[in-house]
Amino acid sequence: MKFSTGIFDELSMLIKKVSKERDVINLSIGSPDLPPHPKIIEVLAKEVQDFQNYGYTLNPGLEELREGLIAWYQKKYGVNLKIDETLVLLGSQEGLAHLPLSFLNPGDLVLVPNPGYPIYEAAAKLAGAKIYYYPLLEENNYRLDIEKIPYDILRTAKIIFLNYPNNPLTAMANYEFFEKLVFYAKKYGFILVNDLAYGELTFDETRSISLLEIPEAIDVAVEFYSVSKSFNLAGIRVGFAAGNQKVISALTILKSNIDYGVFKPLQKAALEAFKLREVIIPDLVKTYEKRRNVLIKTLSEYGWQVKPPLATMFVWAQLPDGIKDSRKFSLDLLTNAGVAVTPGIGFGDLGEGYVRIALVADEDKLAEAGKRIGEYLQYRRVV
Ligand SMILES: Cc1ncc(COP(=O)(O)O)c(C=O)c1O
Repeated sequence: MKFSTGIFDELSMLIKKVSKERDVINLSIGSPDLPPHPKIIEVLAKEVQDFQNYGYTLNPGLEELREGLIAWYQKKYGVNLKIDETLVLLGSQEGLAHLPLSFLNPGDLVLVPNPGYPIYEAAAKLAGAKIYYYPLLEENNYRLDIEKIPYDILRTAKIIFLNYPNNPLTAMANYEFFEKLVFYAKKYGFILVNDLAYGELTFDETRSISLLEIPEAIDVAVEFYSVSKSFNLAGIRVGFAAGNQKVISALTILKSNIDYGVFKPLQKAALEAFKLREVIIPDLVKTYEKRRNVLIKTLSEYGWQVKPPLATMFVWAQLPDGIKDSRKFSLDLLTNAGVAVTPGIGFGDLGEGYVRIALVADEDKLAEAGKRIGEYLQYRRVV
């Protein structure tokens, strides 16, 4: 089978089954549980009433929304984009999925991270590309060590997928790291693609960096952003691509053969989200910080020491000594303790030995989840 959702399907089927018998705390998917800001819903409700909003919107998306994205990049990262360097997507996943198809030929080489969010591999497969899985190792702060990639791979690579802040590893990039990648991309002529879905979700006063902050990155890079996580709007399916004009144009042309753009009220709602950014983001970040702290503290009280993440809405937890098989651990934990977490192996073989816990429940529920996990570990005598 060319595409597989193997372990994720197995887990969701078991969640359904176990839910019939007991309450399950589902921390397995990164779908925000918090409501959107009421003003966003207000805009959506108003725009839906206007019959003029029911036509095709067409690619590359509403200019005012793309201007909203440009203003966001300017304010947050000091990056100045032109309007033709931006594109509205049906969620960032859609754009990531179609990107290689938009300018690669079958057999071209794409580099994807291991462990990594599964869409990069799927996107390469959709385009009939060859895949080189590059390792993300803790000893390198989970950053691609480009100097370790063989010359023949660098020479023939067309795209390198990056994801900082990273899901599932929660790692962040820094300036020197991105600067080096831009240097290599220019030298060897490949395109860097950074998935910035978690750009706003950084904790303890840290700040994410955009790949486009690097001088001349615009010659070799595109970035993907989304309102899903920053504004609790995952269901409205609005995302963005920004960066190199030729790449954006290729993706726009491909998309024009596939879709007719995002429903206008949804684009207006996304624009309202950008306008409310200063109101929404600080509170959201605090909420996730508190949730993270509760979970980490509870687990540590049971003897499981887990590193607190500096970004994203996930905890990437190395399994306690004596447990190696993340798939078996996740399925057993769900069956015996009613807590669903994602096995690290689902993100690639280098994810084995870890689980990803999504902070998508309130503090009380996370404390309860931590307690159930802790008691399960005690019962198994591994803590
Ligand atoms: C790293 C990463 N990229 C992209 C996405 C997809 O986001 P969107 O809702 O914008 O399609 C997700 C969703 O979980 C994600 O974790």
